[in-house]
Formats: sequence, C-alpha cells, structure tokens
Amino acid sequence: MTTPLFEPLITGPRIVPVLVLDQPEDAVSLARALVAGGLRMLEVTLRTEAALACAEAIAAKVPEAVVGLGTLTRPEHFAQARDAGARFLVSPGLTDKLAQAAHDTGLPYLPGIATVSEALIAREHGFLEQKFFPAMLSGGAPALKGMAPLLQDVRFCPTGGIRAEMVTEILALPNVFALGGTWLTPADAVREKRWDEIERLAREATALVP
Ligand code: 3PG
Repeated sequence: MTTPLFEPLITGPRIVPVLVLDQPEDAVSLARALVAGGLRMLEVTLRTEAALACAEAIAAKVPEAVVGLGTLTRPEHFAQARDAGARFLVSPGLTDKLAQAAHDTGLPYLPGIATVSEALIAREHGFLEQKFFPAMLSGGAPALKGMAPLLQDVRFCPTGGIRAEMVTEILALPNVFALGGTWLTPADAVREKRWDEIERLAREATALVP
C-alpha cells in the first residue's frame, strides 16, 4: 500500500513551522504572519483542546497556507484531522493501527521514526516519506547521512531540536525533503500576539533555503 506524497504539496521553502495553538483567532493571525514571511506548510499539533478548530480556521481563512495536523497518536485522530481540512498528517511514531488509519484517510502522512528499524517498519507499511524525530537527540545530520545508503528510497523530514542555524546543513542532505520545528513560533511571541516578530522569523528562515 502506498499513500500520496507530501513533497508535491510543497510550493515554497521546505520548512514546516510546528504550531501549538489555543485560539482559532490567533491561529489565523499566526498563519497569516508565517505566510507573509514566506512559509506556507503549517503543521498544527494535536496537543491542545483547540487544535482541530485552529486547523479548520486556518484552512478556511488562510487559503495560501497548506495546513496539516501533527501529533496524531491515536487511530481516531486521523479522521478528525481529515474532517478539519488537513492536507497532510504527521505522527511522532508509528503503530499498525496508526498506519491503517493513515491509509484510510488517503492523505499524505509522515510517520515518526528515530531508528533504522523503525524506518524499515514504516517503509513496510508503504511510507517512503518519514518524520525523523526527535531529530537532534537521535543524531541529527550525521544520523541522516548514516541512514542514506541503507534506506535509499526513504526520505526524511527531521524535526525536534532544530534551530535556524542548522537549517542550511540539514536541508542540503539528499535524503531530506523538508524540516520542521517550533523555533519559528516562540510561545511568548504567540501569547503576546507579536505577529511582526513571527513574520520576521519566517522571513529569516525563508532566506536560508536555497
Ligand atoms: C515536533 O513535534 O515536530 C516537535 O515537537 C518539534 O520539535 P521542536 O519543538 O524542538 O522544534
């Protein structure tokens, strides 16, 4: 079984802000700031009560954004994410039930892996694009380089611990199709609605992508 790929959805820089959101109105302002800074691929994490409503609000009001849902850790999350308008799905890990639920949605899906064995299992489920997580704790760029010859048909979106100064090196790896993280949306800036600061961070990140 194979799923549609995530990569063809990418129209701008290969950076995916990972968002933790509490308020749909703020979600829309935040998404507009990120889009103004050049970033369109937005992952709303299912870590808050309001996450689905926030993703729905972005999908309805910020058409330039490509909104996905992440932190999908239970099979029922997948249909909820699809119904909220998610265009892609992300999990921090993978189980048989999550793999089936992902296939059932027909949407691009990045299962989380941290080791070669996990990547092999995810590949057996048909997922050739995977989230390498937690990327920096799991070996960062050297680990991705080490996996390249072993998993020649698998490509990764590393997230977890990535900061602006690592972007250029990581995106230059041939087995990396995108990367993500929360460094673009500091919690205090979101809480205090400092959208200009977030737009600036997005612009700076955009400038790092070749
Ligand atoms: C994720 O789910 O991808 C991570 O929480 C992002 O990690 P970061 O907060 O270290 O960027």
